[in-house]
Amino acid sequence: MADVIDGKKVAEEVLASVKEEADKLIAETGVTPGIAVVIVGEDPASQVYVNSKSRKAKECGFHSVKHTLAEDTSETDLLALIGTLNEDPAIHGILVQLPLPGHIDSGRVIQTISPDKDVDGFHFINVGKLGTGETSTAFVPCTPAGSMLLVERVRGRDLSGLSAVVVGRSNIVGKPMANLLLAANCTVTIAHSRTKDLPGLCRTADILVAAVGRPEMVKGDWVKPGATVIDVGINRIDAPERGEGKSRLVGDVEFAEAEKVAGAITPVPGGVGPMTIAMLMANTLVSACRRAG
Ligand code: GUN
Repeated sequence: MADVIDGKKVAEEVLASVKEEADKLIAETGVTPGIAVVIVGEDPASQVYVNSKSRKAKECGFHSVKHTLAEDTSETDLLALIGTLNEDPAIHGILVQLPLPGHIDSGRVIQTISPDKDVDGFHFINVGKLGTGETSTAFVPCTPAGSMLLVERVRGRDLSGLSAVVVGRSNIVGKPMANLLLAANCTVTIAHSRTKDLPGLCRTADILVAAVGRPEMVKGDWVKPGATVIDVGINRIDAPERGEGKSRLVGDVEFAEAEKVAGAITPVPGGVGPMTIAMLMANTLVSACRRAG
């Protein structure tokens, strides 16, 4: 049976060290790391994510502000708020929760965030730095950064020559994850909906990352024996066995079967999810340290 990777525990360790470093920064320079989280509309899942980001920031001793804007907020007003936050010296990280309502151009919003405060790592400057191997000065998107940390916990820092398959080609997870694995000298393949023989490809992977947003799509017999499996999916599905109207969270991997084959695997919940918020705090701390000089 695979080792089940305890992302919650690793995230708590990351957050404890972020808090320690933040306390030191505050004591030595008077600079308190500051994060602004912006949410537009009432999507319940987004509300949950945003609230936990704000709460964790406060637990780390950060200055944390949350801007909740109405669903019908205009793009102009949102861009103006970002302009204000870009200029605010108390704010080192700006996060605009995605997805945004359809009348707002998400691309324009993301590119308006100052690259120096883009703790999500979505701005072209940070994407470009990651893509060209400038990983020491890039802000790396939080979910892939957290996933890499979990891979390194299992495999050690030297991933050189390992075969990695990333299922999913999103800008938020799949592409940056592939770039991180490439920077770590893995041989990387990005798979997607048009990939031929996906099961066969997955079976070649020493490191298999599932980031497609489709419940339990990756089957147990797609996993190479001993592989490290990172399940980025968080899918809510009906669970009538738990009672009427009940639901439960599952990943993109068929956990019960994959666990029998893999060397190590992340659970859902409690795997990658907690790492995302921890890395957001780590990025915000880095941004504040850069500002403090
Ligand atoms: N929505 C889902 N994941 C993310 C994320 O990592 N950052 C932002 N801003 N929105 C998201």
